[in-house]
Amino acid sequence: MVAKAKTELDISGMRAAGNAAASVLDMIGPHVQPGVTTERLNQICHEFIVDTLGCIPAPLGYTKSPHTPPFPKSICTSVNHVICHGIPTDRKGLKSGDIVNIDVTVIKDGYHGDTSKMFLVGEPAILASRLVKVTQECLYKGIETVRPGAFLGDIGNAIETHATRNRFSVVHEFCGHGIGRVFHDAPQVLHYGRAGTGSVLEEGMTFTIEPMINAGSRHLKVLPDGWTVVTKDHKLSAQWEHTILVTGRGYEVLTLRAEESFG
Ligand code: MF3
Ligand code: CO
Ligand code: CO
Repeated sequence: MVAKAKTELDISGMRAAGNAAASVLDMIGPHVQPGVTTERLNQICHEFIVDTLGCIPAPLGYTKSPHTPPFPKSICTSVNHVICHGIPTDRKGLKSGDIVNIDVTVIKDGYHGDTSKMFLVGEPAILASRLVKVTQECLYKGIETVRPGAFLGDIGNAIETHATRNRFSVVHEFCGHGIGRVFHDAPQVLHYGRAGTGSVLEEGMTFTIEPMINAGSRHLKVLPDGWTVVTKDHKLSAQWEHTILVTGRGYEVLTLRAEESFG
């Protein structure tokens, strides 16, 4: 089954959840500074999600398989060569030149909103800023293919084409996903592939697009904690994510932030 919003009520629920998730990224921005620990960022987001928004942080206690321990924190923080699912830690603070992805998923009235963005800490190197910018462009180019009748493969193709044109690589092992009352639902939204292949998009579907783009090779490994995914070559990785609704004419970005001008 594919995550498909069936009623106008589902759609307003997803819109509210998406807005709430986006507001967490707006809120946390000024706190992402040299010296701050990712655990401090986690605490600030947790309190905001629970006390201010009255939402549930979906990652906290989330289990992906019976062999992996539940995720121990409320957000994912993925620094530099961490591709995704980085666990907030108080071991060391962020330093100038770091790039960090903050990935927020909230549950509001039973609906999930899932979004992430990259933050540049202090003075980033040219390669780091270029990777972050190209990865955001990959997300936007993927989103712009979305309309009823388009194919899932159109999204992946747009992302892969833009990444490889810039001599970056696309992570294959993790993908976007259907989302709604369920966090990770069908379909799988691959960030590579061929236009005109895969399932056809239909009005009312809700899913994420969340490309992970590497400066070096696409290959990865998972650390012994069972969660943290890093590049095998320890080169930089970036990711941006939005939750999308397929509308009658195209798409609506449910997790749009005020700083974003498209949509
Ligand atoms: N937010 C991530 C995604 O985009 C999933 C995080 S699961 C967690 O799908 F348990 F690591 F938080
Ligand atoms: Co997601
Ligand atoms: Co996410």
